[in-house]
Amino acid sequence: MIKFITAEETLPIRNEVLREGKLSLNECRFPSDNNEGAFHLGNFEENMLVTIASFHPQTVEGHIGSGYQLRGMATLPGFQGKGKGNQLLNFAVVYLRGQKINYLWCNARKKALNFYTGLGFEIISDEFDVPGIGPHYMMYVKIY
Ligand SMILES: CC(C)(COP(=O)(O)OP(=O)(O)OC[C@H]1O[C@@H](n2cnc3c(N)ncnc32)[C@H](O)[C@@H]1OP(=O)(O)O)[C@@H](O)C(=O)NCCC(=O)NCCS
Repeated sequence: MIKFITAEETLPIRNEVLREGKLSLNECRFPSDNNEGAFHLGNFEENMLVTIASFHPQTVEGHIGSGYQLRGMATLPGFQGKGKGNQLLNFAVVYLRGQKINYLWCNARKKALNFYTGLGFEIISDEFDVPGIGPHYMMYVKIY
């Protein structure tokens, strides 16, 4: 089941899945977490939070209309590959379309490319490196 959650609730999974458990929870906050219009989604299995993602208004140069950036997309290891991430992003796309937001974009880890292309995202940048994390692409999906 997908629910709106707080930034606070995303921190343990951000740390475990995206930062290899190396940071304090406070260090897992994004500066954009409390931006105007920002929201956070969780996908729950029974009562356990297993997938998270965060969204905030942010346009990309060269793209027309209103945009949101997706950050901190993660599923706990034992629950990956079961469609939890796919369900959550589909929910987000329908929600944002309802707000007449034109597109969603993210800096996607190369390893997660197939996950995003499966949801209709396209690559919109050359490959770039995020120090300590690895190769990334900017990816974009038009939603409205
Ligand atoms: C990338 C990540 C967020 C995807 O979340 P997930 O919950 O595993 O995603 P899904 O299960 O919806 O999709 C993953 C794969 O399972 C497959 N899958 C299996 N059962 C599925 C179902 N019932 N419905 C949809 N897809 C399903 C999908 O086809 C997909 O394959 P693909 O990656 O080759 O396209 C997750 O694997 C993760 O946290 N990885 C580590 C952190 C990371 O890289 N995050 C992304 C940062 S950009």
